[in-house]
Order: sequence, then C-alpha cells, then structure tokens
Amino acid sequence: MVKSMKLGRLNHVGVATPSIADSVRFYRDVMGAEVIREPFDLPAQGVKVCFVDTPNSQIELIEPLGEGSPIHGFLAKNPAGGQHHLCYEVPDIHEAKAWFEAKGAKVLGEPRIGAHGTLIFFVHPKDMGGVLTEIMETPREGH
Ligand code: CO
Repeated sequence: MVKSMKLGRLNHVGVATPSIADSVRFYRDVMGAEVIREPFDLPAQGVKVCFVDTPNSQIELIEPLGEGSPIHGFLAKNPAGGQHHLCYEVPDIHEAKAWFEAKGAKVLGEPRIGAHGTLIFFVHPKDMGGVLTEIMETPREGH
C-alpha cells in the first residue's frame, strides 16, 4: 500500500546560468540578496551550485561542470540561463518515489544525495505539468 504524497515546503527554485559569478552579482546588486552561500561542485550531477537565500526559500544557481553536464543542453536552448526546476520537500523520500511511480510518473533515477546533503530525485516534466520537479527529503534537525 503506497502512502499518499505529503507536499512539504518549497525548498528552492533551480536557475541555470552560464556563470554563477555573474548571477551572484545580479542577485546581490540588483535583487538585494544579502545571504549568498559559498559555491560548490556536485561532480556526481555534473553541476556547480550556489544558493542565494530569500526570506522564505532559496534560489539554486546551477552552472555546468564538465563536458557531460546535463546543463549544457539547457543552456544551448536558453543561452542566458533560466528557470530549470522547482524543489519540494517531503518527509520520506522512498515513500514519495513509490507514490510518483504508482501514479505512472517518470522518476529519473534512484534517490541520491543532493545539494543539501539529503536524498533527492527528479520527476520528468511531462508528468508534472511541464515543470522539472526535484523531490527532496526534509533535512533532519541538526543536519
Ligand atoms: Co535543485
């Protein structure tokens, strides 16, 4: 019996960019962002990421890392960058995966460690109203 989906908070909005450095300047100087985290590489996902805090969520800036990065294709279609995905939290990643699969949605790969150090997976936009969707297990207290 598959447990029903428990939609948690919007954790972040993923924004692809050809240059995290340029985007950081934009969010700081134009948008007035005050808390911008240190960029870091996620080699397993072929991306470099940088989180910009907003009062109720975060923007995840994503730059391609390496030749095989999945972001190259996105930037080929959107050279200036653009909105790439939304990320929602769930209390249990495996229950959420079973739920989406039971609904016939295309889950892209097995749950893996994401940019916040908790398990994530992506669901194909064709089953999500056109939105590439990241599902992320809510970080536990003290994480
Ligand atoms: Co993300």
